[in-house]
This record gives sequence, C-alpha cells and structure tokens, in this order.
Amino acid sequence: MSQKPWDGRFSENTDEMVEKFTSSIDVDKALFASDIEGSLAHLKMMAHESIITEEEATKLEKGLEVVKGRIEKGEFEYSDALEDIHMHIESALGDVAGSVAKKLHTGRSRNDQVALDVRIYLKKQTLEVMDSLIALQKVLVETAHKHMGVVMPGYTHLQRAQPVLFSHHLMAYYEMFKRDYERFSDSLKRTDVMPLGSAALAGTTFPLNRELTREILGFSKISDNSMDSVSDRDFIMEFISHATICMIHFSRLSEEFVLWSSSEFGFITISDAFTTGSSIMPQKKNPDVAELVRGKSGRVVGNLMAIITLMKSLPLAYNRDMQEDKEPLFDTVNTLKASIDIYTRMIPHVKIHGSVMRTAAEKGFLNATDLADYLVVRGMPFREAHSVSGKAVAFALENGKELHELSLDEIKQFSDLVSEDIFDFLSIESMISRRITHGGTGYDSVKSAVEKAALLLGIT
Ligand code: ARG
Repeated sequence: MSQKPWDGRFSENTDEMVEKFTSSIDVDKALFASDIEGSLAHLKMMAHESIITEEEATKLEKGLEVVKGRIEKGEFEYSDALEDIHMHIESALGDVAGSVAKKLHTGRSRNDQVALDVRIYLKKQTLEVMDSLIALQKVLVETAHKHMGVVMPGYTHLQRAQPVLFSHHLMAYYEMFKRDYERFSDSLKRTDVMPLGSAALAGTTFPLNRELTREILGFSKISDNSMDSVSDRDFIMEFISHATICMIHFSRLSEEFVLWSSSEFGFITISDAFTTGSSIMPQKKNPDVAELVRGKSGRVVGNLMAIITLMKSLPLAYNRDMQEDKEPLFDTVNTLKASIDIYTRMIPHVKIHGSVMRTAAEKGFLNATDLADYLVVRGMPFREAHSVSGKAVAFALENGKELHELSLDEIKQFSDLVSEDIFDFLSIESMISRRITHGGTGYDSVKSAVEKAALLLGIT
C-alpha cells in the first residue's frame, strides 16, 4: 500500500485516477514558501509552550530549511500520491529530519494550514499590487503634467461632446486606479487575520498560543471563530472582485489606446518596443499590449465567476471544493500584476499628438453648449437657448461650416443677443477656462488636481 499520512483507517489503495483527480500539487506548489513560513511559526510557538521540546523544534526548523532549499533549487520531486504542497513538505521533512517530523502537525489540520498559507501569500501579493498601482499612478500623473495644455475632444456616446484637456482625461484614470488602490488597502485588513489554531474546524485540545503564532508571522489579529477560519474564502472573493474592477478600468483605457492609435484617430503613437507587426501585412504596427490587457480582463471576470460560484451554498466548514480556489486566485494575481506593470512601462513610450487632438476638438460643434450658455448669460432661459443653438448648428451644417466659422450676421439671425464677443466665447481656450467648477476641465482645476496627486504620490 502506498503510504499516506491519513491512511490508518484505509485497507485499500487509492485508485490511481482518484489520486490524479484529487491532487492539487501542480497548482498549490506555488504556496511552498508560505507553507514553510507557517510551519516554522507553528513549531516555534509549540516549543515556547512546551508542546514539543526545544531540541525537537531545532531539528524541525533545520529540516524545513533543507526542504525549502531543495524546492528552491528545483531538486524536489512531486507526486500526485502526496496530494498537495502541505503533504509534500511534511513527507520530505520526514526524510530529512526523521520521525520527529511527525510532531509538526500537532494541533494543526490542513484546513487551517491551507487557510493560513493562502493568507500569507495574499498579504504579500496585495502589498505588491498596491506598490505597482502607485507606480502606475505616478506615470499617469507625470504624463498629465508633461502635456498640460493639450486639448482634445471629450466624448459621450463616442461622439465629440465638449473640449477637454488631455491631462483631464488621463487624470480620470488616475482617479480610478487610486480607488483601486484604496480597495486593495481595505481588503488587506481582512486578509491580515491569522487562522492557525482553528485546526480542522473546532479548535484543538493542545494549549496553542495563537497570539504568539500571530506575532511571529506578523499578522494584525487572530481569527475569532474556528469554523469560519477554515471555511471563509471571502478574503479571496474580495481580492478577485477588486482585481476585476481594476481590470475593467484597464479594459477601458486599453480600448481608448487602441482607438487613439488607429489612423482614424491618430491621437497617439505607441512606440515600436510596445507594438508588434503582422506576418503578412508589412505596414502593420499593432497595439497588442492594449489589446491583450483588454482581453485578459475577461480572464479575471471569469475567475470572479469561478470563485463565487465555487463558494455558493457550501455548508460549513471545510469542503474539498475549496481546493479549487487557488487557480482563479493565482491567475488573477499574475494577470493583474502583469497588466499594471506593462502599462506603467508603456505609458512613457507613448507619443501624444497634441495638434491632431486639437484639430479634432475644433470640428463637430463642440462649442454648441457654450453658444447656449452665452445666450443664457444674456438673459435667455436655457431651454430656449438650447434650441437656438441647435438651429445655428443645423444652419452651419447645411453650409459646411463650424459655429465659429459663421459670420456675426449669420449667427445673429438666430438671436440678436449675439454680439462680436461671441467668437472669443466660442474659442477652445475660453471654453476650457470657463469650466471653473471643482473637478472640471478648467486649466486651474486640472493643474491643481495634478499638483495634489503629485504631492500625494511624493513626486517632486
Ligand atoms: N489541498 C487542500 C486545499 O487546498 C487542503 C487539504 C484539505 N484536505 C482535507 N481532506 N481536509 O483545499
């Protein structure tokens, strides 16, 4: 019979296909460092509480370091028979340290062990994601600062609407990624809870000092209910939800990069280093990074569906279903980090074509709202002014002109409230300057938004 740590009550070998089917080692081997960190803390605490002797603890500690070294050097053999990373490490520890290895699992279950390992892993990953989000925000703010003054059409329904500063548009993404950062920083508090000592589901008869384990591992608090500790995966659902929102933000930015870099828009050129060619069409230069990030956002949405559907209706406490939580989590972490990092690297290599953006902002009646506002300032009720401006647009369209290309007499036929100063009023600079509300596209407002963000991010 093949040896399993749990085979005492079994008289038949596990079916080969079942071994393969239930094994998660291919996926959860990524948790080896967290698993060893958790075990080291557990054995130190047990020695401190005299559950094992100091001598045993030292042997186990040394043994775990040897196992860790072997895994890191790729000298470790994995087998489906040992199911998961936790059993692999324990079995290897037996080979290295001898029978004392059998004491490591005292007062512990794989259920609280796996909960701990994932929390150690996810704490570290969340902090890394937050750091990368800061780097991304810096690049956005620096780009907004550099191109302050560049005007582009602002869109609604992807139809030209009103002129905005390009920096204002970029700063909209800064706001989104700033909120993403805040979301991760908030969920980190709930990931930062130490579950070990919950054992299989009910706690343990051994006098474990959970506070000491917590302290050694650097967690903020210990969990308060053993059944919840081994069966809660909402910290994972929360991380993937936040990652999904962040990837949706990226999908929008990516869509804009794809559009803006097309010949139809011509607003930006992405540098050669961040684009690829076509195997048949020699002229092609494709915005693959943006397209792939847009595509990868779909993977993360899929991972969110996978984890929430996985958890739905599971009775307390641990269920083997939960082993399936790791693939969506790891894939989300990897996809999210790669997307943030590639954008942070690419954005400084994007050329901004300010004059093309400006020309686009001059066509398409982006000043029609301002013509209405002009009339309102001169006493006309807004609804009436809206209709007058609309009539002027229709007239200009028929004559193949923009509003600001009409003569004073031509505009005047729609309202005699109009005088010579209308042309300055309808100019792009004046339209932008007059957007004075907090958070609007006015020069001062955008400048102060950029300055405030730079200060917050420590950009000098
Ligand atoms: N590999 C499992 C997981 O990741 C942990 C094993 C718990 N197994 C068990 N039979 N209680 O969820």
